Amino acid sequence: HAADAMRTDLMTITRHVLNEQSKFPEARGDLTILLNNIVLGCKFVCSSVSKAGLAKLIGLAGDTNVQGEEQKKLDVLSNDVFINALISSGRTNVLVSEENEEPIIVEASKRGRYCVVFDPLDGSSNIDCGVSIGTIFGIYMLKEGSAGTLEDVLQPGSTMVAAGYCMYGSSCTFVLSTGAGVNGFTLDPSLGEFILTHPDIKIPKKGKIYSVNEGNAKNWDKPTTLYVANAKFPKDGTSPKSLRYIGSMVADVHRTLLYGGIFMYPADKKSPNGKLRVLYEVFPMSFLMEQAGGQAFTGKGRALDIVPKKIHDRSPIFLGSYDDIEDIKNLIINGH
Ligand code: AHG
Ligand code: MN
Ligand code: MN
Ligand code: MN
Repeated sequence: HAADAMRTDLMTITRHVLNEQSKFPEARGDLTILLNNIVLGCKFVCSSVSKAGLAKLIGLAGDTNVQGEEQKKLDVLSNDVFINALISSGRTNVLVSEENEEPIIVEASKRGRYCVVFDPLDGSSNIDCGVSIGTIFGIYMLKEGSAGTLEDVLQPGSTMVAAGYCMYGSSCTFVLSTGAGVNGFTLDPSLGEFILTHPDIKIPKKGKIYSVNEGNAKNWDKPTTLYVANAKFPKDGTSPKSLRYIGSMVADVHRTLLYGGIFMYPADKKSPNGKLRVLYEVFPMSFLMEQAGGQAFTGKGRALDIVPKKIHDRSPIFLGSYDDIEDIKNLIINGH
């Protein structure tokens, strides 16, 4: 029966992607090869994270990145792993990493049709205390006739062909969309394979959780302040929402995707564009949220419609359950 079938008829991530890609007659298997290499990178980081404390992989690398953040050893290690895995796939052209100031243009002999934007290690502040962290990525196709330039990665998130994340938590979970819904896979360490465990994820239409760094409340604008006040002191007699905030976007978004609710990193007086980076945090998570039936809103418009000007641009973001985002859109648009 079902359980046995699962054990003997393994739906690995590779098989699942091949199934999805077989619906496109023109598919040449390139995306499958690219995703396989991203999966390899995630397996490597998963294994490094689980033994970080033992292998002295915690702490600072002694350098600062373009974001002005002190790089952790695991930031640098995972960045190197993903750059090598992406280039060796022979399917990439322009790469953007949170940890690299400039885009990486792949050498001609190894070029392919895809551009990948990625956050090799998200939630770095949580590494040393063992709290869940992750990797986030988005994939664009080269524009027709393009030789691969900055232009190919300064495109709206709505033009991405795939996006996903891997969360290194109590288990290693890979969540992916290639534009036909969202699927979750869990690493079976005994096989070294990601197995389909969360088919066709749909986010609950409304949730009971709000997720924000309340420590920034002093600097929030009025609509954010009002929304959070309503969450804590509902006027309509409903019970207050719960607050859950982990401080790793991957973990906060994964919980929001499965349980529902809203995750937000609003603009504030100190950071008028918020903190999260458009290409490799806002776009991939917004892509997944829409594919799962949720929404992603910048406070001004649909997150996936942003046209980035620079590769490390930031944007405020409100994402999650469809109805919860409607509520904050109404607050912001009606100005009260
Ligand atoms: P990264 O570790 O890749 O730089 O990203 C950290 C981000 C994101 O993971 C999280 O949602 C946010 O920083 C938390 O920021 P605060 O600590 O300011 O709340
Ligand atoms: Mn960082
Ligand atoms: Mn990040
Ligand atoms: Mn990061």
